[in-house]
Amino acid sequence: MTTISAGNGSRRGTGDRTVHSASSRPSTGFAAIVCAGALALAAAPPLAAQETEDPSVWDGVYSAEQAMRGKKLYEATCSRCHGEDLSGANARPLAGESFIRDWGGLKLDGVLTRAKTMPPGAAGALGEAGYVDIIAYVLEVNEFPHGEAELTATRAGDVLVYGVDGPDAVPNFAMVQVVGCLSRDDRTWMVTDGSEPIRTRDPDASTGDVLTLTQAMALGANTFELMYVFPDPDPYEGHRVEAKGFLIRREDSADAINVTTVASLDAACRP
Ligand code: HEC
Repeated sequence: MTTISAGNGSRRGTGDRTVHSASSRPSTGFAAIVCAGALALAAAPPLAAQETEDPSVWDGVYSAEQAMRGKKLYEATCSRCHGEDLSGANARPLAGESFIRDWGGLKLDGVLTRAKTMPPGAAGALGEAGYVDIIAYVLEVNEFPHGEAELTATRAGDVLVYGVDGPDAVPNFAMVQVVGCLSRDDRTWMVTDGSEPIRTRDPDASTGDVLTLTQAMALGANTFELMYVFPDPDPYEGHRVEAKGFLIRREDSADAINVTTVASLDAACRP
């Protein structure tokens, strides 16, 4: 069975996600990508470090006046489903812990892109500026400080979302990506020497530039149990792999990942 437990997979309509077999990737050609990636990225900071240098929602990225305009639009168009207080009466909450769980570690334009699909059946109806104003209001309700300048759609692409626990906190049940060695403990598949988990919104194997960055990610000292990994990744035992899925933090044993993808990066785990 590849279904995701605890309702994580279904709440975002990702139930139709296919689990990607690492074997769908051509293995030849990969070595070439690894080498090119290593050269091109020798001087580049890792993904996480790049992200923390960007402005964040804590830097006063919208104005109070803008949030007031957004509030009017929100109340007219969104509140009947998302609630007067954004607590998600008949839809998803847009404030509080849930907002950070859904969007923490990601750029603000992700929320904007999603908002533009709203209200259901009338996507884009408010025009870009209208949606940006609503995002300003959403930030205000989430108690992020306002500043002098207004938020713009372009600026939203730079602004990192994170909560009071800081930019590196990956909330439980968030979709993450890790890199490490694919190992087996009896019948349980594990990633050992694993990197820190980083947030992702893409459940599938990385491609393009993201794959190049993934190739350059440093291994670490983390162990993750892989839950519901299918098809059996047997051919990749000992490989350096990327694993994606929902992070399940556990007190008494290694954290687990409810897997959406395991893909081989290299036949040897360590360079
Ligand atoms: C008819 C009800 C309805 C209206 C009106 C509506 N939404 Fe939604 N909205 C939904 C539903 C349903 C979802 C999906 C919930 C889920 O993914 O579980 C959603 C999801 C979202 C999300 C993604 C939330 C997340 O964390 O994944 C955002 C952002 C959003 N809506 C913004 C808006 C904005 C802004 C408006 C007003 C312009 C609006 N919505 C109007 C029903 C509505």
